[in-house]
Amino acid sequence: MGKPVWLYLVCAILAFWCTVSLVKAEDAYRYYTWTVTYGTASPLGFSQEVILINGQFPGPKLDLVTNDNVILNLINKLDEPFLLTWNGIKQRKNSWQDGVLGTNCPVPPNSNYTYKFQAKDQIGTYTYFASTLMHRAAGAFGALNIWQRSVISIPYPKPDGDFTFLIGDWYKYNHKTLQQKLDSGLTLPFPDGLLINGQTHSSFSGDQGKTYMFRISNIGLKTSFNFRIQNHKMKLIEVEGSHVVQNIYDSLDVHVGQSATVLVTLDQPAKDYYVVSSTRFTEQVLIATAVLHYTNSQTTVSGPLPAGPPNDTAWSLNQARSFRWNLTANAARPNPQGSFHYGHIPITKTFVLANSAPLINGKQRYAVNSVSYVNPDTPLKLADHFNIPGVFSLNSIQSTPSGGSPTYGVSVFETSLHDFIEIIFQNNENYLQTWHLDGYDFWPVGYGDGQWSQASRAQYNRDDALTRHTAQVYPSSWTAILVSLDNQGMWNLRSAVWEEQYLGQQLYLRVYNPTPSLANEYDMPTNVLLCGKAVGRHP
Ligand SMILES: *[C@@H]1O[C@H](CO)[C@@H](O)[C@H](O)[C@H]1NC(C)=O
Ligand SMILES: *[C@@H]1O[C@H](CO)[C@@H](O)[C@H](O)[C@H]1NC(C)=O
Ligand SMILES: *[C@@H]1O[C@H](CO)[C@@H](O)[C@H](O)[C@H]1NC(C)=O
Repeated sequence: MGKPVWLYLVCAILAFWCTVSLVKAEDAYRYYTWTVTYGTASPLGFSQEVILINGQFPGPKLDLVTNDNVILNLINKLDEPFLLTWNGIKQRKNSWQDGVLGTNCPVPPNSNYTYKFQAKDQIGTYTYFASTLMHRAAGAFGALNIWQRSVISIPYPKPDGDFTFLIGDWYKYNHKTLQQKLDSGLTLPFPDGLLINGQTHSSFSGDQGKTYMFRISNIGLKTSFNFRIQNHKMKLIEVEGSHVVQNIYDSLDVHVGQSATVLVTLDQPAKDYYVVSSTRFTEQVLIATAVLHYTNSQTTVSGPLPAGPPNDTAWSLNQARSFRWNLTANAARPNPQGSFHYGHIPITKTFVLANSAPLINGKQRYAVNSVSYVNPDTPLKLADHFNIPGVFSLNSIQSTPSGGSPTYGVSVFETSLHDFIEIIFQNNENYLQTWHLDGYDFWPVGYGDGQWSQASRAQYNRDDALTRHTAQVYPSSWTAILVSLDNQGMWNLRSAVWEEQYLGQQLYLRVYNPTPSLANEYDMPTNVLLCGKAVGRHP
């Protein structure tokens, strides 16, 4: 791909930016064509309709290197509009490619859209999944791994191999049936199973004495799980793009939408071992097992499954607090992670977001500060770009809980580029919530019981909280995050618990700068899809 003419013109003016930008010429381009279809699979022992990407369930694994440019043509052969979002990919200056309904028109049936984005300055285990309707319940998800560039040293020895564990709850119902339940005002039932890579019997082979990277992601709809391996310890190395202090764990809690990477050394007698994942904080415990096979093993798995931790949010909270940034390790660029002293930057704005589960017109909905989000037919990003009135307004939601009666709305918070904000997720419900922010990673600086107050700030970890893109909020508790708003665009902040997202627990952050500049935000892509009130506009 050649550089566009405008870039050279701008380069003549902005020498510094030019250097940065032309370096991109070295970054590889990777081309993909993905066709999305219906198919069948039998993950629970009977045939079900699933969504396939290039014939695969789960979808193909994307293995990228930091700063790779991805050109991915998505062809939709479903009977419904479809989009993929790249969970944790920051889409720097480029919310145009985020793949959620506030930024992109969905790809109509029998049509296609080519995503163009860069995996800029990121290393780690990520995922992608369908952001539309309940498609994610049918398997439209996959692994997205970003490996470090050869010039970057990472704080662990190169592993002898890597294994992907996409783990999630699963239903015997297809995605349309689940959607109908939600549309008619019901909640989802308890899941029917827990799957590892779309199966109940997967197997992973490694050589005795070698060390493997286990990439673990929760791609389920609503249930947290605990992950463990019979007789083996796990060394945590990376969480959603942060290199962390390398603590050793017997088991790890992973909440919906989250990912973690561990190293496991096959240092046990040659035999096969159970890999176990079990649901957390549920009345009925669903268990998924896989097999870790030593290539020199003659003995199949045996013995009791390794026991999980106590069914206790305090245990889980303690573990969350033990995840620390390794301040001296490199991130995706060769500078120490702790060189940015996040804990001492003045906060320009605080948002307190309280989730609730109101009935509106007799139907179950989910809300943030009393507003239950509904997707307008025109993506917010396009409405903003074309100045189309009547799609959203910037004062439709309060920045602290209003206590007003619940309403439908299109919630957008106005923030400025380079704000440094604090968001408190106040969970007044009695089950665990998980919140995800697109376009960013953030510091989860505090987790506490009951109601957050200004005094709660005294408990914040201002020194070595990790950065991540998805944070859990324990029942009747709060979680506080700090975010450096250095990425202009329209960004989705949502419950990662999918029925809550679908029924209104989401909103957008408009990170804005009144002076348009290509140094801050890319132009609308030339192949942009137009829909709603944007139909007929000229890109
Ligand atoms: C659809 O695919 C074609 C190539 O087959 C590509 O040229 C075109 O840009 C794609 N459409 C969109 C909207 O990206
Ligand atoms: C942090 O990273 C540095 C640099 O790679 C490494 O030497 C050190 O052992 C790591 N510290 C911990 C506690 O993991
Ligand atoms: C685990 O704890 C939750 C409350 O946090 C409870 O609802 C559930 O029934 C418990 N599960 C088991 C198996 O004891």
